[in-house]
Amino acid sequence: MKIEVAEFAGFCFGVKRAMDMAWKELENAKENIYSLGQLIHNTQAVGKYKEKGLKVIDAVEGKISGSIIIRSHGVSLDVYNALKEQNVSIVDATCPFVKKIQDIVYKSFSEGKAIVIVGNPKHPEVIGINGWCKNSAKIVKTIDDIESYSWDDSEYSVVAQTTMNIDQYEHIKKKLTATVDHIEFHNTICLATKERQDASKILSKKAQAMIVIGGYHSSNTQKLTEICSQNCPTFHVETKEELDMSLISSYSHLGITAGASTPDWIITEVVEYIQENSK
Ligand code: F3S
Repeated sequence: MKIEVAEFAGFCFGVKRAMDMAWKELENAKENIYSLGQLIHNTQAVGKYKEKGLKVIDAVEGKISGSIIIRSHGVSLDVYNALKEQNVSIVDATCPFVKKIQDIVYKSFSEGKAIVIVGNPKHPEVIGINGWCKNSAKIVKTIDDIESYSWDDSEYSVVAQTTMNIDQYEHIKKKLTATVDHIEFHNTICLATKERQDASKILSKKAQAMIVIGGYHSSNTQKLTEICSQNCPTFHVETKEELDMSLISSYSHLGITAGASTPDWIITEVVEYIQENSK
């Protein structure tokens, strides 16, 4: 059986950086190490970090001490300020691409512009970005959302959630341009998502079947499954234990891809398991 891993699969630059920073912190730990929210949507990786001593908290309540890791999604200005009041050292693992969006929003807002975020209002990255303009942003997830807001003569500055779908963003941009007089756009979509989606699409057209590895709650993994299943039979698994070898062994060319929160060691385990069990 030929097993081929997609050209871009697994951790993106920002997630890898955050996970490495957190691990380094845990290795040198003398005190409590917290993360504000789950570092990533991957049960196995989160489990490994918890075993090493990471304490995951959803919010800072009461007094804490030690180190606190800000994950790649970033946080609002208020959260930064609240952390500075604590007896903690802040390990800021905000992805530099997300930091750039926060900086654009903060600067534009300080210049008196109104902020528009194209993205999912419930996503932590968007919630964090909105916190750099005092939660004043108009958040547009779908084209229909544009009509639900009233638009005035203000100057508008638009940013996008890093994982936003490019085609959807372009549609929204077109409609906003037609709706609002003074508007500037900052295309802040990160290419890592597109690279993973394109690579999965290409491979799923060549392979007889695809295995998509990643957390069941990870939206980018679900998206990869959706893309691949348009081209060939596709199996979404979290770990090697979930592979149904009686099904998989019947294919002679298997493609593998993985969501942006899947560590390399899980991808390697899956590949090795298939190699060993498909002989
Ligand atoms: Fe950063 Fe892009 Fe990943 S914004 S966290 S490198 S998807």
